[in-house]
Amino acid sequence: MKHSWWKESVVYQIYPRSFMDSNGDGIGDIQGIIMKLDYLKELGIDTIWLSPVYESPNDDNGYDISNYMKIMDEFGSMEDWEELLQQVHMREMSLIMDLVVNHTSDEHKWFMQAKTSRDNPYRDYYIWRDPKGDGKEPNNWASNFGGSAWEYNEETKDYYLHLFSKKQPDLNWENEQLREEVYRMMKWWLDKGVDGFRMDVINFISKVDNFPDGEIKNGKKYASGSKYYRNGPKIHDYLKEMNEKVLSQYDVMTVGEMPGVTPDQAKDYTGEERNELNMVFQFEHMGLDNGPNGKWDLQELDLIELKQSLSRWQYALAEGGWNSLYYNNHDQPRSVSRFGNDGDYRIESAKMLATLLHMMKGTPYVYQGEEIGMTNVRFDSIESYKDIETLQAYSDLKEQGWSEEEVMESIFKKSRDNARTPMQWNDEDHAGFSSGEPWMAVNPNYKSINVEAERNNEHSIFNYYKRLIQLRKQNELIVYGDYQLILEDDPEIFSYVRSYQDKKLLVICNFYDKEPTFKLPRDINFMTKQLLVSNYTVEEQSNIAEFTLQPYEARVYLLN
Ligand code: NOJ
Repeated sequence: MKHSWWKESVVYQIYPRSFMDSNGDGIGDIQGIIMKLDYLKELGIDTIWLSPVYESPNDDNGYDISNYMKIMDEFGSMEDWEELLQQVHMREMSLIMDLVVNHTSDEHKWFMQAKTSRDNPYRDYYIWRDPKGDGKEPNNWASNFGGSAWEYNEETKDYYLHLFSKKQPDLNWENEQLREEVYRMMKWWLDKGVDGFRMDVINFISKVDNFPDGEIKNGKKYASGSKYYRNGPKIHDYLKEMNEKVLSQYDVMTVGEMPGVTPDQAKDYTGEERNELNMVFQFEHMGLDNGPNGKWDLQELDLIELKQSLSRWQYALAEGGWNSLYYNNHDQPRSVSRFGNDGDYRIESAKMLATLLHMMKGTPYVYQGEEIGMTNVRFDSIESYKDIETLQAYSDLKEQGWSEEEVMESIFKKSRDNARTPMQWNDEDHAGFSSGEPWMAVNPNYKSINVEAERNNEHSIFNYYKRLIQLRKQNELIVYGDYQLILEDDPEIFSYVRSYQDKKLLVICNFYDKEPTFKLPRDINFMTKQLLVSNYTVEEQSNIAEFTLQPYEARVYLLN
């Protein structure tokens, strides 16, 4: 397997609005990020992924871009951004930017032009269709944020497509001139020195061109059109073209966000010889606690399913492709609340989950606050929530007859705002995030859960993450070793072996608060064992052939 810097990296995602506010306006900003670079270096991070910082009316917190080449005023200026890049590079870290090119904001100058007339030169940068005979939407697709995926435009008397909010019109990748504009913009950033891109819903950019209706389910008004726009007919052509014209000319890292991607498809997207992307964000494991009616329909996670899913990806991309490893980002609830135990075993379970992920093969992603075990939040009322998806779901579910309690319970578990409460730096006002009133309330548990407390405690989650990251830097085995799941049918223990040259790594994670017995399979032979990391104190001479695990216990052994 070819060695690359991005395979050896650990990435930290910053959601700028909620990371650190330097000027007291309650909104995180670029100077705030600069203030915290030493903290990231201390954690051992070598690559930062910055969620969008471009000019935007903030309908979807920056994922609706009105100017790709300007910095959002609230976040600072281009000079601030340049200083950030320089400061990142000075610390021998890399910076990757968010590339949002499935759609723009409706306030982008291209769309402002496009919507004015059917013969405007920018018209074809977007996707327009005539109303159906009865004047209705061109098809029955739902937007990913609820409601129709089409919006009527009075001036041109037709509809434009928006797979997200109506302020996020989809770009028409069929149009060559548009593609060239995107490539020019990418080069402009790369020439400034950025080290790569995380590409927002990049597997949505090619749509089936006859726009067929989707299948209506459960009496809903709109249908999912996803099979007609995910991994569409020309997606590989576009990515290959982007690679040839832009990416191949730089030493960069790329990760494509791809809802609905399968392991086989991911092999094509990330195959070393295929010249498309380095890795993808897949969503299979993120859907395991969704009921039949989707995200808000709560379902318990089944550990066997999680083992099967993560292992399927490990095996599928074992050769030639590459995995990204994550549980958290700005769209997902906090993993310690979701898959661990944010009550009595918050510390143990956060460390266990981290062990499980960081010892796998792939590039690990840490989302701000994950490294200190930040949890989900339960705001008293919907008024405190800000996320467009959450607010839309609140009204849609109410309309479908859900009670207030039912809706709020789902929001407490799944809302994207769980990830977006301000970063908890210390136990002072607003958790040290801002001297002003934060744009979104801080999680009240900041008094005990915060960076300062974590750094001062050698047994903290923060110091445990630091250790996991160090181990990856010190052992090629953790980066490049083969993966093998063991104890497949054990309903409580997630355990696997990594192998590289003549060494093995044995990872043992107890996923629950019970005390199951671990039995080492007979075919795992070794002469010496060394405990590399564990979240409980383990006796040096302990016998690993058979032993009882403590609640959420995790251990990693190097076997020789
Ligand atoms: C995926 C992003 O991660 C999410 O935050 C955003 O709302 C949608 N794409 C639309 O850009």
